[in-house]
Amino acid sequence: MTDRKAHWETIHATKGDEVSWYQPASTESARLIRACGLAPGASVLDVGAGASVLVDELLDLGHRPTLLEIAEPAFVRVRERLGGRASAVQFVIGDITEVELPAAAYDLWHDRAVFHFLAEPEQRRAYVKALQQALKPGGFVVLAGFAPDGPEKCSGLPVCRYDAQGFAAQLGGGFELLESSRELHLTPFGTTQAFQYTRFRRL
Ligand SMILES: C[S@@+](CC[C@H](N)C(=O)[O-])C[C@H]1O[C@@H](n2cnc3c(N)ncnc32)[C@H](O)[C@@H]1O
Repeated sequence: MTDRKAHWETIHATKGDEVSWYQPASTESARLIRACGLAPGASVLDVGAGASVLVDELLDLGHRPTLLEIAEPAFVRVRERLGGRASAVQFVIGDITEVELPAAAYDLWHDRAVFHFLAEPEQRRAYVKALQQALKPGGFVVLAGFAPDGPEKCSGLPVCRYDAQGFAAQLGGGFELLESSRELHLTPFGTTQAFQYTRFRRL
């Protein structure tokens, strides 16, 4: 087991909703996903989904969610929350920099606060390769992480911070930046964190 996997498994197994990134509703992600105008039945991959309630919102929209997570304990909580609705969700355990995803399988790729942990250029290259493999041509990307004025660490790990142009540069050519927005996220501990959100379309 990698240190990274062990780190996240411990966090998910011990902290529950007492984590800085917890949101009672995935408001900005859901707004950006709705803006893509996907038809019901669209397939959506949430990378590093954790125990986020985004999946509940995706099911409400009639989409077909796949959740990818490095740490299985997060899914225990998602399954408990969803009850019978969990059968409409695909759960995949894996590291986004190593996992083999099906080709051209997803209409939308969502990531809130996962890409920003990839400190090494080869990790980021592997991530973008997985994205290019798995996203359909014409598909959408909603990518969010700490903004340049956001925290330097998350969950005790250093992060890379990006503005919208920074995210665009990381994805490289072949993606059109459609919109960007910022969110001052209120943590369960009463502090705020500046997030940068972006929405892209694959050309
Ligand atoms: C900061 S949390 C964000 C969780 C969720 N996206 C949200 O917004 O509530 C980062 C999540 O990504 C997962 N994660 C971290 N590195 C990962 C990797 N390399 N591959 C897949 N998941 C990863 C962690 O276990 C954790 O659930």
